[in-house]
Amino acid sequence: MDVLDLAVLEGEFLSLLGPSGCGKTTTLNLIAGFVEPTAGRILIDGEDVTGRPAHLRGLGVVFQSYALFPHLSVFENVAFGLRERRVSSAEMNRKVVEALALVRLEGRERQRPTELVRRHAAARGPGPRPGLPTPRAAARRAAGRAGPKAP
Ligand SMILES: Nc1ncnc2c1ncn2[C@@H]1O[C@H](COP(=O)(O)OP(=O)(O)OP(=O)(O)O)[C@@H](O)[C@H]1O
Ligand SMILES: [Mg+2]
Repeated sequence: MDVLDLAVLEGEFLSLLGPSGCGKTTTLNLIAGFVEPTAGRILIDGEDVTGRPAHLRGLGVVFQSYALFPHLSVFENVAFGLRERRVSSAEMNRKVVEALALVRLEGRERQRPTELVRRHAAARGPGPRPGLPTPRAAARRAAGRAGPKAP
């Protein structure tokens, strides 16, 4: 990576676009503190955090590979980082509930991430197949009512 001058404003939604290997992940790793720059500085809210360990930068990172813990529940996966920060359990609960609501995962707290993925994958099984009526259309036809024709 060479000469990157990037300023991100508060509340700004920013995308980094570029060909494979141009340094997008490296830029995020530098900001998060997983990689140290050989030159230059990283400022957060005006404060120089270059050299500060990742867990003291107060940033959240969602990896391309998700990096969820398969043996922990949905709740515990979200709570993990907060536990590390030693916030009170009331505050932690509030934050987890808030975060899960944000991604519409309320009610899934006790499930494991793999269960959600498994169900997601299973939903593809009975998906529409070319030339075959959908289960609903087949049921309607069997009941003597003409269902909408498959495209
Ligand atoms: N730890 C490292 N040490 C040295 N070189 C690295 C390191 N990590 C990545 N690189 C190199 O830095 C360049 C940028 O890689 P990077 O992974 O940031 O690209 P990218 O834009 O995220 O690509 P992609 O779109 O494939 O994810 C590549 O040439 C890569 O091989
Ligand atoms: Mg990348």
